[in-house]
Amino acid sequence: MSSTIQSIGVVGAGQMGNGIAQVAAVAGFDVIISDLNQDALDAAIASITKSLDKLVSKERLGADDRDQALARIKTTTSIEDFSESDLIIEAIVENLAIKLELFKKLDAIAPEHAILASNTSSISITQIAGATTRPDKVVGMHFMNPVPLMKLVELIEGLATSDETSAAVQAVAEKMGKTTVFAQDYAGFIVNRILMPMINEAVYALMEGVGSVEDIDTAMKLGTNQPMGPLTLADFIGLDTCLAIMEVLHKDLGDSKYRPCPLLRNYVTAGWLGRKSGRGFYNYNA
Ligand code: CAA
Repeated sequence: MSSTIQSIGVVGAGQMGNGIAQVAAVAGFDVIISDLNQDALDAAIASITKSLDKLVSKERLGADDRDQALARIKTTTSIEDFSESDLIIEAIVENLAIKLELFKKLDAIAPEHAILASNTSSISITQIAGATTRPDKVVGMHFMNPVPLMKLVELIEGLATSDETSAAVQAVAEKMGKTTVFAQDYAGFIVNRILMPMINEAVYALMEGVGSVEDIDTAMKLGTNQPMGPLTLADFIGLDTCLAIMEVLHKDLGDSKYRPCPLLRNYVTAGWLGRKSGRGFYNYNA
């Protein structure tokens, strides 16, 4: 089945969509990225080029491989152009209504054999699959940020996802050089089910004055060998994203242990969203 996947469509030219398009092109797939406006697509190509250049400068990728990968990426503002894609990976905003609408459209446009995947970090794959006439061919492919550097892809099987679909996307992720794990379709899957409560607890520790921002991060970084402390990582992921995921865990799993920390909510209300807004637990404009 995987041998039939040659053309990959990526919906959404944000940070995750760019990263997915990049690793797919480097792995030899033909890639089309779509977004609503051309400016976002131009920015995507610039950011992919920058990332590939960095990998070349670090001798992790050959210059020829970079050039060939870039030549394999096309852009479009119309998802109608996915009519020949074998696999379409959605990486748009985490909004259920918008995703359901998109999957309905993709179902109508994509060839019958095509697999429709979502990079969602929190929305039910089973529910997304329900918007299509091919729930057996709908699956979660949850990439980690920054996609070109992170080794994992978490594969999520909805209730109706077929074994054939799971095997096909596993082969694609492995061709991209990633290690895969399978997670069942419960809120947060594996990574965010465990990571987000840790980050949320770090914010509680800050709110209660257990330690300073720097001390909490240093404690976890050096005390548990994590590459980034939890508050640095929260700023990196985006505090709005962390809050949204905690809210899904709280609502869907129904356990009070997932209640979002009020201080996290305050930061998001203030617009202090982390690196992307210039301020989160750290100040990036200083
Ligand atoms: N492409 C190419 N190069 C990149 C890059 C990209 N997309 N992003 C960063 N780099 C480069 C940097 O520019 C930097 O280059 P320099 O050394 O020249 O400055 C280099 O990579 C980083 O090199 P370091 O040696 O400093 O890297 P590191 O060992 O600190 O690793 C890291 C960086 C991989 C980001 C590491 O800090 C890390 O693993 N952090 C945790 C990331 C993480 O947990 N991600 C998952 C978030 S959860 C998620 O994504 C799921 C969700 O649903 C929320």
